[in-house]
Amino acid sequence: MTGIERHAHITGWGRYAPAQVLTNADLERMVDTDDEWIVTRTGIRERRVAAAHETTASMGAVAGRRAIAVAGLDPDAIDLILVATLTPDYWMPSTAALVKEAIGNTRAAAMDVSAACSGFVYAYSTAQAYIAGGLARHVLVIGAELLSRFLDYTDRSTCILFGDGAGAVVVSASDAPGGGLGVELTTEPQGAYMIWLPAGGAKSPPSTETIARGEHYIRMEGKETYRFATRTLASTALAAIARSGLRPDDIDLFIPHQANIRIIEAVAKGLGLPMDKMFVNVDRYGNTSAASVPIALAEAVDSGRVKVGDRIVFVAFGAGFTSGAAVVEWTADPARGRLAETIRPEDISVRLPVDWDSVDPIPPALAEIMARPVVPGVELDLSDVAPGEPEPAHEHAVR
Ligand code: UT7
Repeated sequence: MTGIERHAHITGWGRYAPAQVLTNADLERMVDTDDEWIVTRTGIRERRVAAAHETTASMGAVAGRRAIAVAGLDPDAIDLILVATLTPDYWMPSTAALVKEAIGNTRAAAMDVSAACSGFVYAYSTAQAYIAGGLARHVLVIGAELLSRFLDYTDRSTCILFGDGAGAVVVSASDAPGGGLGVELTTEPQGAYMIWLPAGGAKSPPSTETIARGEHYIRMEGKETYRFATRTLASTALAAIARSGLRPDDIDLFIPHQANIRIIEAVAKGLGLPMDKMFVNVDRYGNTSAASVPIALAEAVDSGRVKVGDRIVFVAFGAGFTSGAAVVEWTADPARGRLAETIRPEDISVRLPVDWDSVDPIPPALAEIMARPVVPGVELDLSDVAPGEPEPAHEHAVR
């Protein structure tokens, strides 16, 4: 690679969502909640749940292979594979190693990136840095999560929020201007135990006691997390925008982490921008953690919300507490997104272990739902969920 090919351009994008839909009505039958509470407090109407044969690696591989098809590349052109996830298939090997083989790549370095819901933005900025440093020409960045297997379906404060899925981009080196601009990443360990998964790691290895205490499920202090998100997202986005030499008004579209419509509204307020600058699909997927920004990006491009020359901001927050924002000047032909349709999930397989088979991974609380026939997802009208014009609020401005 020559010294001038240091601009990082998104050349491919793709997404994969499992077919089975878990609605608010389904959750009403599992925990003490109701559709109105969930829609009003979060904006979520439904989320996807992975089938028994699916894993984080398999979903990530489909999204990744689709992004490679859109980029018009051979899978072996990829030099580096980054998988952002908090729900890897195994502690080891990395999910990225499994994805590498599943997409038909023989030569890339592959590693996972752990920054929870900010993981995709962290991984994307790593790709940008590898390209700027001349270390890679094509990087596949995937955000993939299978959260339904780490949720306590008796805890209404968490199980209603999350869903499964994967999204991906190919980031390619070029001497053409545009592509990746400013980045801001933050980590605030004071929030370390605000969203966490207590057991299974070195501090608290798995035991019958940790299982009995439900310590292998995600735990969250919702209010504290909400406060962090509303305090941090706009300031993180503003810092990345300022590093790009731009102002919030210069941005055509924000792709925020899809955690909660009220949090997305707060970002708009913090930036003094209208909600139509915020892409929203939390109603249909819930919070898919590291997968949420790349799924939203792929949907935004494929639904005509992005055109060449647009300036886009990815902005996310999550456990850690982490946050991240990255500004991109879009340069790819959005029509190329159609090439993703050439990749069928059934044609992609992840290597299985020899002489070992796990138990059925479907959480018992979801067994009945997973057994029913799949009904195609319905496009929902967001008008009763998305708020109106937010008032400008400048207290979140970057200091
Ligand atoms: O990627 C990062 C992941 N995390 C997040 O994004 C979470 C950020 N936090 C949030 O989105 C919000 O804090 C939640 C949606 C989790 C909760 O909304 P809230 O407006 O902060 O509600 P709350 O926690 O203050 O709870 C209000 C009430 C409580 O009842 P009482 O004590 O007022 O009687 C809760 O017990 O709502 C109750 N509640 C529910 N009611 C019905 C909590 N969960 C539910 C539920 N259905 N699912």
